[in-house]
Amino acid sequence: MSDFKERIAAELTAARNRSTAYTDAEDDLLVTQHSPLMSPLVWDLAHVGNYEELWVLREVGGIAPLRPEIDDLYDAFKHPRADRPSLPILGPAEARRYVEGVRGRVLDVLDTVDLHDPDPLRRYGFVFGLVIQHEHQHDETMLATLQLSGRPGLVRDGDLPPGGSGRARGPDEVFVPAGPFMMGTDTQPWAYDNERPAHRLDLPGYWIDRLPVGNRAYADFVEDGGYDDPRWWSPDGLRWLRRTRASAPLFWTREGGTWWRTRFGRTEPVPMDEPVQHVCWYEADAYARWAGRRLPTEAEWEKACGWDTGAGRSRTYPWGDDPPGPGMANLGHRAARPAPLGAFPLGASPCGAEQMIGDVWEWTGSWFLPHPGFRSFPYREYSEVFFGARYRVLRGGSWASDPAVVRTTFRNWDRPARRQIFAGFRCARSASPEQSPGHSPGHPPGSARRSPDRPPGRSAGSAGSAGSAGRG
Ligand code: AVJ
Ligand code: FE
Repeated sequence: MSDFKERIAAELTAARNRSTAYTDAEDDLLVTQHSPLMSPLVWDLAHVGNYEELWVLREVGGIAPLRPEIDDLYDAFKHPRADRPSLPILGPAEARRYVEGVRGRVLDVLDTVDLHDPDPLRRYGFVFGLVIQHEHQHDETMLATLQLSGRPGLVRDGDLPPGGSGRARGPDEVFVPAGPFMMGTDTQPWAYDNERPAHRLDLPGYWIDRLPVGNRAYADFVEDGGYDDPRWWSPDGLRWLRRTRASAPLFWTREGGTWWRTRFGRTEPVPMDEPVQHVCWYEADAYARWAGRRLPTEAEWEKACGWDTGAGRSRTYPWGDDPPGPGMANLGHRAARPAPLGAFPLGASPCGAEQMIGDVWEWTGSWFLPHPGFRSFPYREYSEVFFGARYRVLRGGSWASDPAVVRTTFRNWDRPARRQIFAGFRCARSASPEQSPGHSPGHPPGSARRSPDRPPGRSAGSAGSAGSAGRG
């Protein structure tokens, strides 16, 4: 086998090892629906196998359906998540046998396929990239399901570098000067259709937080009455607030004057130096308004992540084109939590933003829309049917995301009310007040040099003005 084929085989195995670990539990846990938002874990497992069968075995390998009667059960568009437990889906033992049977044949197809064939599914092993990334995305979904289940002892934690003095090391915000950049990609071989094509965008100058918003800063918002003050919330956000009566991030509780969180079945004090996670878009948007900021647009996020003005090109990752090393980002379930703020100075982007990749998905202010010149490939249901003002874009990947599904141009999307995903955010603001959408005029440029852990609204001294400017 060629080196490239060996690499593909290793990536397939790595993805499968994760799916296996997350379904290595008693049958009861696997067949139960832990939340109407999620599938039973055993559905995800067989769905991953079925997807591999459809794309690699049938489409590329020309192999006849192994179990044609189950296709319908694993078609995500035929059955909403809430209905999946009542379907006659494969049980855990049968699902494991099925995915193993498919995988054996997939490796046979890999052995014989010509990766230089001009067919776009074969060239550069695209179809294998498709199923590898698909499995990893479902692995992250399974982790969210396990988190919702509250089941202790199944999800491994791990070690992370300390944030240490990371926060003091640099400025709170970094500046991205006005100018053009190329958004999206024409060259990443395994990029999804929604990342294509590359196109030129000219953005005005803006500031973006050097680090994601931390738990300390978010707790300040909560303790400042942020959830009780309609001034910070969008109209849809207010409706969400009244419907859910949320008062803090999902999985947070307050007891004895301390914030606690439940994480994979264990309760622990909220680590104040970690990026906040399990907040929905409405909460991110409200926090930003309270802090006198706004969410970055998707284009602002991507430019801050990868654009190298000197080179006139975007990097695959913030630090360059080398794959993520342990000193660059917290990815791939190295530990079951975000790393402390400032833990990855080596992962800084050209403009100096850190932790853009890994730790938490970051909500952006943008709806999920096609890039100009978008063409659906290889099927409309991956991206195209989700375009419109219903899903918000998330960027950067989380601690649960595998490096294979993380790059500067990778786009994720979800409903603005979703909180079970491993999502947080960072804030931005326009360089001049006139250009700033969610933001009152008269905001003094450059004044908002708050600590990422202490927004201007609550901090003493010079930073105070920025917070009040946003509140008027
Ligand atoms: C890109 C994460 C929104 O999980 O719905 C999985 C990925 N697409 N199976 C999702 C996906 C088909 C998708 N997200
Ligand atoms: Fe899927």
